[in-house]
Amino acid sequence: MQTLEGAQSVGNVPTEVTAFVARRKELSEVKRRLGASRLVTLTGVGGVGKTRLALRVADQMRRVVKDGVWLVDLTPLSEPELLAVHVTNALDIRDQSSRPTIESIIEHLQGKQVLLVLDNCEHLLDSCAKLVSTLLKAAPGLRILATSRQLLGVEGEYVFAVPPLEVPARELPTSKLAQYGAVALLVDRASARVPEFKVNENNRGALVRLCQRLDGIPLAIELAAVRLNTMSIEEILDRLDDRFRLLTGGWRTSIPHQQTLRATFDWSHSLCVPDEKLLWARLSVFSGGFDLSAAEDVCSDEQFSPEQVLNALTGLVDKSIVNRDNLAPRTRFRMLETTRQYGQQLLAEHGDEMALRRRHRDHYLAMATEMGADWFSPRELEWMAITRQELSNLRIALEYCLAEPGEAAAGLDIAVNLTRARVWFFIGTLTEGRLWLGRTLAKNAEPSANRLTAQSLVAWIHLVQGDQHATMKELDECRKLAQHVPDAEANAILGFVEAAYALLGQGDPHAIELLLQARYQLEKVEAYGDAHMATMLWGMANAFLADGPAALSATAEFLAKSESQQAAWATSWALFNAGLAEFVHGSARRAEELLVESLRRQHEMRDSWGPPWGLEVLAWTVGTADPRRTAELLGAAQSLRHQNGVSINGIRPFIIAHEDCENDVRRTLGTKAYERALERGAALTFDEAIALAVDQGTTSARSESKAQSILTEREREVAELVAAGLKNQQIAARLTISPRTAETHVQHILAKLGFASRAHIATWVSEQRSPGKPE
Ligand SMILES: Nc1ncnc2c1ncn2[C@@H]1O[C@H](COP(=O)(O)OP(=O)(O)OP(=O)(O)O)[C@@H](O)[C@H]1O
Ligand SMILES: [Mg+2]
Repeated sequence: MQTLEGAQSVGNVPTEVTAFVARRKELSEVKRRLGASRLVTLTGVGGVGKTRLALRVADQMRRVVKDGVWLVDLTPLSEPELLAVHVTNALDIRDQSSRPTIESIIEHLQGKQVLLVLDNCEHLLDSCAKLVSTLLKAAPGLRILATSRQLLGVEGEYVFAVPPLEVPARELPTSKLAQYGAVALLVDRASARVPEFKVNENNRGALVRLCQRLDGIPLAIELAAVRLNTMSIEEILDRLDDRFRLLTGGWRTSIPHQQTLRATFDWSHSLCVPDEKLLWARLSVFSGGFDLSAAEDVCSDEQFSPEQVLNALTGLVDKSIVNRDNLAPRTRFRMLETTRQYGQQLLAEHGDEMALRRRHRDHYLAMATEMGADWFSPRELEWMAITRQELSNLRIALEYCLAEPGEAAAGLDIAVNLTRARVWFFIGTLTEGRLWLGRTLAKNAEPSANRLTAQSLVAWIHLVQGDQHATMKELDECRKLAQHVPDAEANAILGFVEAAYALLGQGDPHAIELLLQARYQLEKVEAYGDAHMATMLWGMANAFLADGPAALSATAEFLAKSESQQAAWATSWALFNAGLAEFVHGSARRAEELLVESLRRQHEMRDSWGPPWGLEVLAWTVGTADPRRTAELLGAAQSLRHQNGVSINGIRPFIIAHEDCENDVRRTLGTKAYERALERGAALTFDEAIALAVDQGTTSARSESKAQSILTEREREVAELVAAGLKNQQIAARLTISPRTAETHVQHILAKLGFASRAHIATWVSEQRSPGKPE
């Protein structure tokens, strides 16, 4: 998990790509208000410059707000339910827990000085208002700067109406003009188009009139300036006057600035060639931007070829209708919200809105399907990057499926594939995963293969969140449903989750066999990604529950497979597994090397699932060889788990080893020193925790393998009784189990500890009891 204090320690405010003009007074006023009031909302019509002003304030406050300034762009979000999840994404909180997301935000903000910028709240007013008032109450160090066309209506809100840029009231000498924001913006954007553009005696009158005509609205000025490479200012003024005369209907009665913008859009639109007009409308179906191939795929049809899309897109970029985002690894395109909304109106007028939304959905359904089939491949990291960028579009596609009659099955398909591709795991929004699975399941009540798969995946998410109760409940449902669903693949996935439950939920040695069977069944139906997941857990099961040679070879097999597939994420987990097996059965030094390498890679790829586990097992490995570092690592792992809401208690094999490690180190250090070190570890930032693991890695190692950590609770009881000299019959009577079960336990203990006789068990138990035993 990455946190506020993570990689970007001062926040996530983007750098500006065009020049910023004027706003001195507004900037100092907003900053002053933020000092006095914990919630300031910038209001005003679309395009007046609310977002830009907020970003500037954010940038300037970075230096003074201790724990950072964080921007949450709400434009791509249309689902009020996902507001909290969206905020956690922006804050880089990875929430893997089953508790309400708002709680992890509150906890994350506790004791911190943070400025949160909620940009473009207008379409989610109610839920924003609720979130804001909850957060402000719960986190005293939090301040919020919101932008919204309407105020939020929250108690204590200070509303700042963003005025348009200043416009000179009359023609002034050239030297005086530049101090007016509207003129400065027009001149800046004009010179970007026409480098030799200058204000002079001849054009300054028209320039002032143009700024007046556009009411000083920055977006309108930018749109008009685009035209200066082909027209004079006078000509632009003439055309705009025509446009204002053409304004009709509702727009006439709306507030003047909206009319101005509408007229400017109408005018920009009229100057587009037909293909550009069509594309402007069609592109409005995307949310949070798009890349070229998506635009070509979604917006083309029999009459409108992909080549035409490309040409029209180039035209729209030239006209500043679409912005190109050069920072992204793959070129991405975006529209400002007001511009997109104009496009949506055009699309509604054309009447092909439904067709476009379906094509948009088809595109993202295909993407999800490909991802579901293609994981555990050399493209893993690429898919991770793509998902992060396309989350808004994927959500819109899911919403479309839920809202439109007859499309629910496709929605279930998307939710299932995204989960199988482990999207929610690596971006750390397991709760969102369960939400989509739950909502699409609710719309697909009939028994079906996908329904069974989806329900099994819900159980799987509960399981890795450590919620045993919910897992069992869900698995019960799955078993009932499976009786009506003969589909081999869906049943194989259920088989995998059952096997995973045997391992993680019960610490049952049969898990090894069950996972092997699950893998076989998954391979049979060519579900190779899922089969590899089974292999990974099988390696883990061997590490915890099998004898040394089997464990080392199982984990080595998974590592070799992941490496040969060049699957980077899977390889990082395979390294973890191999480290775990080495810790339990082999060399601690080797274990440490493997775990450190795994953590290093997961940190690099911003994986949120692995590090809490990697740090934990690394702590066991270092053990009493360096007890302070161990306690710090335990503290760091615990704090990551806590922030994630993941509970180790629900994950059986881990809790046993954890307690052993904790007891050993506490004994060595003494309780006080132990707790101090634990606290130091818990206070580390994510990056510092990784540094503690990686930089000091491989120096300390414990020579002894830690076999004793891996007995189940029952096995430990049996071991105690064996040591007391009881026979199987007597053990059975004492524990009210059958003599055969008692015998099985004894066999497992012998196998796990690598002993040949009961006498060895007795010696081992007495060594365990004696204080100060050598490490
Ligand atoms: N002070 C400024 N200097 C330079 N450019 C500006 C300034 N203010 C706004 N702009 C530009 O004007 C355009 C519209 O501004 P912005 O997106 O901030 O408007 P908004 O009020 O947030 O609109 P919406 O309600 O649609 O979100 C953007 O391209 C922005 O970069
Ligand atoms: Mg805005």
